[in-house]
Amino acid sequence: MSIARTHLARDPAMKIDLVYGSRSEADIIFKDALAELVAEHDGRLRVRHVLEEASPAASRVGRLDRETVLAELDALGAFEGEAPMFFVCGPLGMMDEAKAALEGRKVPHTRLKEERFVSPVDSATGGSDEPQNVDVLLHGEKHLVVVKPGLTILEAAQDQGVDMPFSCTVGGCASCRVRLKSGKVSLGEPNCLDPDEKADGYILACVSKPLGPCVVEVE
Ligand code: FES
Repeated sequence: MSIARTHLARDPAMKIDLVYGSRSEADIIFKDALAELVAEHDGRLRVRHVLEEASPAASRVGRLDRETVLAELDALGAFEGEAPMFFVCGPLGMMDEAKAALEGRKVPHTRLKEERFVSPVDSATGGSDEPQNVDVLLHGEKHLVVVKPGLTILEAAQDQGVDMPFSCTVGGCASCRVRLKSGKVSLGEPNCLDPDEKADGYILACVSKPLGPCVVEVE
C-alpha cells in the first residue's frame, strides 16, 4: 500500500499491477482502500485478487503458486513491453513459488525485490565463540565495535552507541547494508541481498556475526 500510494501520487507515468492472494474476500486487507486507489488513478493501478474461496471479487480461485502467479502475470501482460520491477511479499512458501515463476521467465534478479517478515533461520547461531573487533567506517570516521558471541554487528553497534542505519532488523529491507572491506562473517539466511550484492562484498549488519576481526563500511 505504501509503495502504491507513494508512487501513484508522485509519478503520473507510474503504473502498478497488484496480484494479491487471500483466503477469502473477507480476508482481503485494504480491500476498500485498494478499490478507492484503483478508482482514483484511472487505469494506473490494476488489482487482481486470487482467493482460495470462490467469490465475485476473485480474478482467479486458488493459491498463489507458480502456475497461478504466471497465469495472473500473463493476464496482465507483465512480460510484454518494457521490463517492469517485480516486488514479492508474503509467506515464505508463496514467495518461493512466485520467485521461481519469475526466474522461469528469465526475470533478472536486479528487477526482483522481496520483503520478508520472518527471522533469518540461523540468526541465533553462527559467529565466533570469542568477542571480535569490528571497525565500522561511518561518515568518514572509524568506530571500533566489539561484538560479543551471539550478537550481530548491528546489535553490538547499537549497544556501543554507534549509529549504524537499520530498519527491519531481520534481513528483509537492506537498510543496514554495509560493505565488508576485510574479514569474514556468518551471514544469516534468508536475507534480501541479491547474488551480485553478495559477490560485491555486501553484507547485512543486522544478520551478520563476525568470524574474526572485520572492517565494514556504511556507504
Ligand atoms: S535492518 Fe533490514 S535488512 Fe538489516
